[in-house]
Amino acid sequence: MSAPEPSCRIPNVLNINSYVMRRLAAAGLLCAAVATATAQPAKQGQQIAAQGTSQGVAACISCHGAKGEGLGAFPRLAGTDQVYLLAQLDAFAAGSRKNPIMQPIAQNLSSIERQAVALYFSQLPAPFVASDPAQPSRSDTGA
Ligand code: HEC
Repeated sequence: MSAPEPSCRIPNVLNINSYVMRRLAAAGLLCAAVATATAQPAKQGQQIAAQGTSQGVAACISCHGAKGEGLGAFPRLAGTDQVYLLAQLDAFAAGSRKNPIMQPIAQNLSSIERQAVALYFSQLPAPFVASDPAQPSRSDTGA
């Protein structure tokens, strides 16, 4: 009797070759786990960023820019390290980082939502910054 075909495709990076992994794949369990670990949080994060939440959290992009690029007093989030972003959100939520705008926002996000939105913004490309003539160029600094 041949083994059943896996019921969904798993990214090659996982290099599934053990019997147990094959059985999990066949059962669709691994597919679900992979999807949950990658796509779901980023998708949830995107939704929070673009639409806010039903708990009254405003859409992040309304202040931080449509692509998280930031503007003036609103810092850039796009392409920023996920661990850093989450640490800031957790600090705002806990009150160890103080800001009258961000504290209530972070407090009204669940821990899962903070993780999801940090992941989402970390995955956006950092915007291209045109070279600023006021700043020394690499060659000027001897770098
Ligand atoms: C009403 C405007 C506004 C909205 C909406 C908003 N932010 Fe902010 N955010 C700010 C401001 C202003 C700061 C700068 C706070 C400071 O100077 O400490 C900030 C700072 C941050 C920081 C710290 C960045 C850094 O470089 O340290 C993070 C992370 C952040 N916001 C995430 C979010 C997320 C995620 C959302 C959506 C859930 C969001 N913000 C929604 C105004 C906003």
